[in-house]
Amino acid sequence: MKIIKTVMEMRAALKSFRDEGSIIGFVPTMGYLHQGHLSLIRRARQSSDMVVISIFVNPTQFGPQEDLDRYPRNLKRDAELAEEEGVDYIFHPDVSELYPEGYKTYVFVEELSDKLCGASRPGHFRGVTTIVLKLFNIIQPQLAYFGQKDALQAIIVRRMVEDLNLDIKIEVEPIVREADGLAMSSRNTYLSSEERKAALVLYRSLKLAEKSIKQGERDSSAIAHEIKKIINQEPSAKIDYISITDNKNLQELDIIKKETLIALAVHIGKTRLIDNIVIQV
Ligand SMILES: Nc1ncnc2c1ncn2[C@@H]1O[C@H](COP(=O)(O)OP(=O)(O)OP(=O)(O)O)[C@@H](O)[C@H]1O
Ligand SMILES: [Mg+2]
Repeated sequence: MKIIKTVMEMRAALKSFRDEGSIIGFVPTMGYLHQGHLSLIRRARQSSDMVVISIFVNPTQFGPQEDLDRYPRNLKRDAELAEEEGVDYIFHPDVSELYPEGYKTYVFVEELSDKLCGASRPGHFRGVTTIVLKLFNIIQPQLAYFGQKDALQAIIVRRMVEDLNLDIKIEVEPIVREADGLAMSSRNTYLSSEERKAALVLYRSLKLAEKSIKQGERDSSAIAHEIKKIINQEPSAKIDYISITDNKNLQELDIIKKETLIALAVHIGKTRLIDNIVIQV
């Protein structure tokens, strides 16, 4: 496994593989790898000849008051984990390599980018789509892997790929959870042990919502109310949003339909966590 820092070297390393027809599978990450990332890497390993991951804490997707500077980083450990999973290349550029002085170009998926996390984190998805497109252009994978934990991110990336006629197949993999249900996230490392316990309300509220729906509840506002009630029982939890939408086009639903996405963002202390569940009725 090799760690590559420049665009030129990354292109040069992959050229011969691409020329001989190898399938390149790509997993973009911000590093501080956990089992969620590793599940994406394993899927890539199963379906591709070459597996490339990127580790890049992308400044353009962070707001000015957000955690860019303190975002957790540990390249040594990430490299060990990646190597164990059979990754061929880690692309780990410096910020100046991808955003040199004079950088001006951004990609924006309209409407979708202002929903859910996009509403509470203005500019976030503009940064995500820009970096993902740049990485796609540098690595030119045939397959790219994303996690369902970031449900809207996956929908937006799919939209961009379709709209811009990119020849890349997007695979979205299920949410990997801790044994007690908390969705894995690099940001979980910010949680104190008290907050770690409190963080269970996200998944617990989603599971209870699912149960109500299975028992016949179809009224979205009743379900949202129930979720709110559970989360508000946790003193350190502050709801950012609870969203109940159609899973395809993210239209808000008054009545639960056949494929419903319930997505949450909740602050636990200073840490903002997200989770979601897709319910078929
Ligand atoms: N628990 C998880 N299960 C499945 N995929 C995940 C999980 N967590 C993250 N991913 C996916 O891994 C990819 C890289 O995400 P990223 O590096 O931002 O990790 P992260 O855990 O989401 O970090 P953070 O929560 O701090 O943003 C994304 O496609 C994301 O959806
Ligand atoms: Mg993330």
